Amino acid sequence: MTTTNETQVKESQNAYIRNFKRLRIAKLFETKEEFRKLRRKNTFWKEITEAMGVRERIKDYLIRDPEYVVIDVCSGKGFLSTLVALMHPKSKVIAVDLDTSADREHFKYLKNAEFINMDIMSEDFEKLVREAGDKVILTGIHLCRDLSERFIDIVNRNENIKYAVLVPCCEGKFPRERYQFVIDELGVYAGWSLYLKDKVREDLKVTLKRDKKIISPKNIVLEIERV
Ligand SMILES: C[S@@+](CC[C@H](N)C(=O)[O-])C[C@H]1O[C@@H](n2cnc3c(N)ncnc32)[C@H](O)[C@@H]1O
Repeated sequence: MTTTNETQVKESQNAYIRNFKRLRIAKLFETKEEFRKLRRKNTFWKEITEAMGVRERIKDYLIRDPEYVVIDVCSGKGFLSTLVALMHPKSKVIAVDLDTSADREHFKYLKNAEFINMDIMSEDFEKLVREAGDKVILTGIHLCRDLSERFIDIVNRNENIKYAVLVPCCEGKFPRERYQFVIDELGVYAGWSLYLKDKVREDLKVTLKRDKKIISPKNIVLEIERV
């Protein structure tokens, strides 16, 4: 069992958490009630590492050109969207999720972010992506099973997506025998992640790496670049 002290030690050793704490916007999560609500869950620091891990990868695009539109696929309550919107106020962020029950009050205070309730499996979602402009960044943290496959299909088909970051989650149906060598050595999650990588169109640049700074066993990051 992890004790509070151990968690605190891990937190202080984690570069994403340290970097987050140094940010000016980090104060908002202490002082402003609508953002502080996100902090109440005991998974806050884990979620910070996930969001900071993805933001770290998209930041160069947004700093170079704020016209990029970020679409946060299966956003949950919008942790990543919130962080990106606050850190890149000139860029537009669209959070998409099927669920309407989560508390997303904080979106009201984000001028450059909106939440859209939508099924990513629908044709409407693909239309949303197509119409988001000619410079789109797609992000997805912990998309389970066919949601991750859908993410890859959308990237493959839509030329306006210039960059995408996916952190896969639970595995769906895939030809395990083909990935048995990876599964044996690194586990099913690694095999599933490699299968997703192999689904990416060959003309796109892909990297697949475990990011140990993301505090989750599901911390493999797939990056896709349309060069
Ligand atoms: C494991 S959660 C990840 C949430 C968020 N990305 C995060 O890391 O905190 C998966 C999310 O996918 C959403 N979801 C499931 N099926 C969906 C669908 N077909 N279209 C849109 N969102 C969906 C769920 O509502 C949930 O918020």
